[in-house]
Amino acid sequence: MTKLLGISGSLRRGSYNSWLLRAATRLMPPESTLAVASIRGIPLYDYDIEVQGLPAAVSQLKDAVVAAHGVLLVTPEYNNSLPGVFKNAIDWLARPSADIKRVFGGRPFAIIGASPGGFGTILSQTAWLPVLRTLGTQAWSGGRLVVPRAANVFDESGALKDASVVEQLRQFLAGFVSFVRRPGA
Ligand SMILES: Cc1cc2nc3c(=O)[nH]c(=O)nc-3n(C[C@H](O)[C@H](O)[C@H](O)COP(=O)(O)O)c2cc1C
Repeated sequence: MTKLLGISGSLRRGSYNSWLLRAATRLMPPESTLAVASIRGIPLYDYDIEVQGLPAAVSQLKDAVVAAHGVLLVTPEYNNSLPGVFKNAIDWLARPSADIKRVFGGRPFAIIGASPGGFGTILSQTAWLPVLRTLGTQAWSGGRLVVPRAANVFDESGALKDASVVEQLRQFLAGFVSFVRRPGA
């Protein structure tokens, strides 16, 4: 069984990115699962907090990342870049720095995202790449999923109703799972 962890970079109720992640949990290939994690409860990074001990929300998310075979970041786009709240969570996961290798080093990560605009988080996804590279992940670039015009692809309950996006998401997940399972990984 291949176990992925998905993290939505949005805190808001009715988040398109959280809805996209929920849809992804139902489109995984055979013999694989996608668990949903949250960045809720993670404080703003502060070294003075860190030296008192990692906040519980950070430790829990770190443990979940380490336990997964691969991690899917589902990112909004803010001002043509990645959201600060999401970056803040990843920054916490990289503390203490001695843990970076264990949490991120050589580990498969992939990025998708949804936005109500026309470009579907492409600039945000690109902005994540130097972060993932710095942390030493194996960022998967074999597929790309940008979901523009998000207001049109989900129904009022948050279900993914656009058949083309469903198929793109299914193929993206199959490709990422194959990468996670690649020989020698
Ligand atoms: C501070 C801020 C900046 C934003 N900048 C962009 C942007 O550059 N590109 C874009 O497509 N959407 C932008 N948006 C709109 C978001 O894509 C939209 O709020 C989206 O719903 C956020 O994702 P969520 O639904 O998962 O919360 C911005 C929103 C905020 C709050």
